[in-house]
Amino acid sequence: MMRAAARRHLRPLSHRAHRLAPLAAALILCAGSLGASGAAWSLTYTPAPETVPAILSDEGAQAVVAQCSGCHSLDYLTTQPRGKGAQFWRDSVNKMIAVYGAPIAPADIDALTALLDARLGKAG
Ligand code: HEC
Repeated sequence: MMRAAARRHLRPLSHRAHRLAPLAAALILCAGSLGASGAAWSLTYTPAPETVPAILSDEGAQAVVAQCSGCHSLDYLTTQPRGKGAQFWRDSVNKMIAVYGAPIAPADIDALTALLDARLGKAG
């Protein structure tokens, strides 16, 4: 039952491609400027302010906004169920890196996990 529901949710492929395409293009542009400057390992992205959910809109959440908005909307994060704890968010960050190739430096994983857990990991 659950599985069929999940598959139905994933079906509108063209819609998802439409949402991801401009962001993928932005990432490629970032990669270009990174190559030119030879700067930091992580790629960051600055989304339009009005697309940043309130719970992540302050300066303290900047690392998550910069590293988690390049491929999809931040709603992907804020619509996850609350109360899942730090391990859920660590697994999520690692999945983005391992499965989807997110350009996140290993040294940033702990800080991102702590920030995600503080903002989204607690119940309520
Ligand atoms: C390199 C691209 C990329 C980056 C950067 C990225 N994600 Fe994702 N993320 C994806 C893709 C692709 C999906 C699956 C999209 C879909 O199925 O519609 C996804 C889905 C998700 C989901 C939904 C549940 C799941 O596992 O599919 C969550 C939660 C999530 N990302 C969290 C994050 C967080 C937290 C960060 C920052 C640490 C992040 N993402 C950065 C590519 C990325």
